[in-house]
Amino acid sequence: MLCYCHMNHEQYTALIAQLNHHVTRYYTQDQPEISDAQYDHLYREALAYEQAHPLLVHPDSPTHKIGGQAIEKFTPFTHTHPLPSLGNIFSEDELMAFWDRIHKALPDQQVTFAIEPKMDGLAVSIHYENGLLVAGATRGDGKTGENVTHNIRTIKSLPHRLTQPVTIEVRGEVFLRRSVFNTTLKNSFANPRNAAAGSLRQLDPKIAASRNLDIFLYQGLYPGIETHHEMLHFLETLGLPVVPQRSLAPTLADIQAACTAIYDNKKENDWEIDGAVIKVDRFDDQQALGFTAKAPRWATAYKFETEQAVTQLEDILIQVGRTGVLTPVAALTPVKVSGVMVSRATLHNIEEIHRKGIGIGDQVLVQRAGEVIPEVLYTVQKAPHPTPFTMPTHCPICQTPVIQVEDLVALRCPNPLCPAQVKGQLQHFVSRKAMDVEGIGEAIIDQLVSLNLVKIPADLYRLNAQDWESLERMGPQSAQNILSALAKSKTPGLGRFIYALGISLVGEKTADVLAEHYLTLENFEAATLDSLIRCPDIGEKTAGLIYSTLQAPGFQAALSALKAVPISPVSPTPAPETPISGKRFLITGTLSRPRPEIEAELKSRGAKIASSVSPKLDYLIVGDNPGSKLAKAQALGIQVLTEPEFELLTFK
Ligand code: IVH
Repeated sequence: MLCYCHMNHEQYTALIAQLNHHVTRYYTQDQPEISDAQYDHLYREALAYEQAHPLLVHPDSPTHKIGGQAIEKFTPFTHTHPLPSLGNIFSEDELMAFWDRIHKALPDQQVTFAIEPKMDGLAVSIHYENGLLVAGATRGDGKTGENVTHNIRTIKSLPHRLTQPVTIEVRGEVFLRRSVFNTTLKNSFANPRNAAAGSLRQLDPKIAASRNLDIFLYQGLYPGIETHHEMLHFLETLGLPVVPQRSLAPTLADIQAACTAIYDNKKENDWEIDGAVIKVDRFDDQQALGFTAKAPRWATAYKFETEQAVTQLEDILIQVGRTGVLTPVAALTPVKVSGVMVSRATLHNIEEIHRKGIGIGDQVLVQRAGEVIPEVLYTVQKAPHPTPFTMPTHCPICQTPVIQVEDLVALRCPNPLCPAQVKGQLQHFVSRKAMDVEGIGEAIIDQLVSLNLVKIPADLYRLNAQDWESLERMGPQSAQNILSALAKSKTPGLGRFIYALGISLVGEKTADVLAEHYLTLENFEAATLDSLIRCPDIGEKTAGLIYSTLQAPGFQAALSALKAVPISPVSPTPAPETPISGKRFLITGTLSRPRPEIEAELKSRGAKIASSVSPKLDYLIVGDNPGSKLAKAQALGIQVLTEPEFELLTFK
């Protein structure tokens, strides 16, 4: 073995201080100054000295944290003060009810709330006496837990000695970082929470140590401090790792904004969270509100709905979209996902079905994220006798033989008069984000197409009151409403109109880019392939598709008919030239005003809002408790602005 015994004791003591500094930078502040390899090198130097001089081992040495003896069995630990659980809320209505309850109980009082992420791990209580870690226990039933001090001591981010010799109980959540789980434990445990639980309940601390557990604290029991946020700040000054992304909210809107910010940042974290916790900030208010039998009245967990569920794939249906593309759709045994019943989910295309090995009759995992269409992620249990599935050779709606789309895995029905395409185009044309014609739903479009009253969008404008009234369940009033909605839709913004035309790959954003680039419908119709490629944010493939659509006789006829109605799109007014025109911004953390408000102001000044940190980003605006975006932006050398700096730059 290499001998580092050239070190004297003074140098060794300095090395321990240095190592502990780097441990804090890495685990508590998330801002390492040296690489893992450099850290390991220093660590091994300390270890070598300790092996050569076992009697001189420093009590604060980080090498200690993986020591300890295995225990025979867990001993019960009676909590000095019980660890309550939290009530749950799931919706804005329930949040309002919580707010009302608090304000009824504390009338005429300005109540401030502390908001923080709800960590998805295991609750523990940890005791320090005169600044030294003496005990750690699981929550158990709230009154009695298990003594897991030997494993708690292996958590590198948790100091064995505080910066002050205080006696204090702290509480928090033990968890495993996603990165750790994914690299070492994914095959042994279902999720990071189970892996953390399994690791914390190891009898041998060496195993727990090898799992790299982590902790964030969210509560402290210590006299003389008046508010929760000051308590957490105090824990930080003691050198303890405290839950990040905290904020204070005096109004209901602020609470909502803080919870939304926590939710939006969910995927950025290296740990799992399952909601936000809302706590009354002042301890005297907390005391006045007290507890119910199970939980405090002064706090609640605003839980994110689960976004995934398992159900049976009953059949695979084929849907023909407005551009004729055939999409396999899962017919599911209805199941609740994020509070909504789901019975259909997309399977994308046949290649995905084969790649994921999904078969009819399987138990599948379904996901619904935000407003996106639900999708089938993968099979969790194969059907005993799976029914094989193949894509059809003919359009299931009009029986035309299907063709393979160039460059794509998709199959397409090439018949522009296929009722599925006609209906899809019409539905898209009247939809809210397109021409926004109220009152024309799916059932009405079905009738219009079946009765041969409408083939192209312009036909909608030719129908008179009598035509509309001839439809099933349509009274004179509804017919009048539709006629006036259609009349109102005749002067759309150019971006909306281009979007309404339903060109493949042209979503709202691309349509706006085209409108801003060409300014008039005539210019857009005459676009050359070259000019399309030169449009900002439009790739070659999209440009090619737009160009060939513009040249297609069917498309030209439908467009001419719309112009003859007449539909007169309104040119976009160019955004004023400002110092931030065209610059890309992203916001992270909590600012003094709601995020959407700031984003709208930025947009009105010609700036763009980016969706993630990338080299294309110009500025990252950083509020309180920023997430990992900050480190990413710094690594890429992107300019970071605090809120006052940003106000100066943009709104002077
Ligand atoms: S405060 C009296 N804050 O959630 C208040 N709990 O469902 C006690 N949890 O047992 C809890 N993150 O394990 C609090 N920021 C946070 C939390 C948090 C996670 C857990 C904790 C508790 C459970 C209740």
